Amino acid sequence: MKSVRIAPSLLAADHGRLKDEVQRVEAGGADMLHVDVMDAHFVPNLAFGTDTVSTLRKLTKLPLDLHLMIMDPEKYVAAFADAGADSITFHAEAVANDYARKYKDRGWSLQLVCKDFYDRGRLDRTIETIRAKGKKCCVGINPDTAAEALEFIDRVDMVLAMTVWPGFGGQKFIDSVVPKIARLRKMSPTVDIEVDGGVDLTNVERAARAGANVIVAGTSVFHSPDAAGTIRELREIAGRAHGL
Ligand code: DX5
Ligand code: ZN
Repeated sequence: MKSVRIAPSLLAADHGRLKDEVQRVEAGGADMLHVDVMDAHFVPNLAFGTDTVSTLRKLTKLPLDLHLMIMDPEKYVAAFADAGADSITFHAEAVANDYARKYKDRGWSLQLVCKDFYDRGRLDRTIETIRAKGKKCCVGINPDTAAEALEFIDRVDMVLAMTVWPGFGGQKFIDSVVPKIARLRKMSPTVDIEVDGGVDLTNVERAARAGANVIVAGTSVFHSPDAAGTIRELREIAGRAHGL
């Protein structure tokens, strides 16, 4: 049985008081700290770079769970590993080959359009660099990328299923992603499955029942008047759904 872990997403914290905010969730029982990195190319927003990660590394003992929403992750994973990441998530869409990259009407989501979706060299380099640095290796997928695109699921420690369009906190959980989480769980009974985007006390049970065991929560934890209570409840609900 997979253990349930709660990962508050720092994007939703008060950035003027990052140190206090980190301590608030650490004291509140968080298992890890989710850190979103955005490059204004893969997503239409910017967030957190290596300097922030190395500062965070000094502020907390919690594992730093990095979520790289960036193009060309193979060029940056070593720097984020050296800055103090414990786990590094790159996006499958960000190592797609040039032919497979088709910008959709939103202008920033990438879609699986042909059988060999990947630039194999970049995919391998990304995974191998994360491994060589001794970090947990994870892959993220956007709401419209199929579970089946992750034919390399056995090479990663964790899959991150986005339940919002990446780029912003505070969006609504996309329910139609839940069956995909169940498919991922079927594809691998052992991989950790992280759910990220709009997760709160009303939908965490559905995600956990489908198989998610690592729960990212930004707004629902940091905007809660009782962050510790919310972390505890998220853990209890998800744990029950896993029969723990
Ligand atoms: C969105 C980020 C999420 C976000 C989650 O692109 O990957 O980690 O911070 O925040 P909430 O829980 O507010 O959706
Ligand atoms: Zn994230």
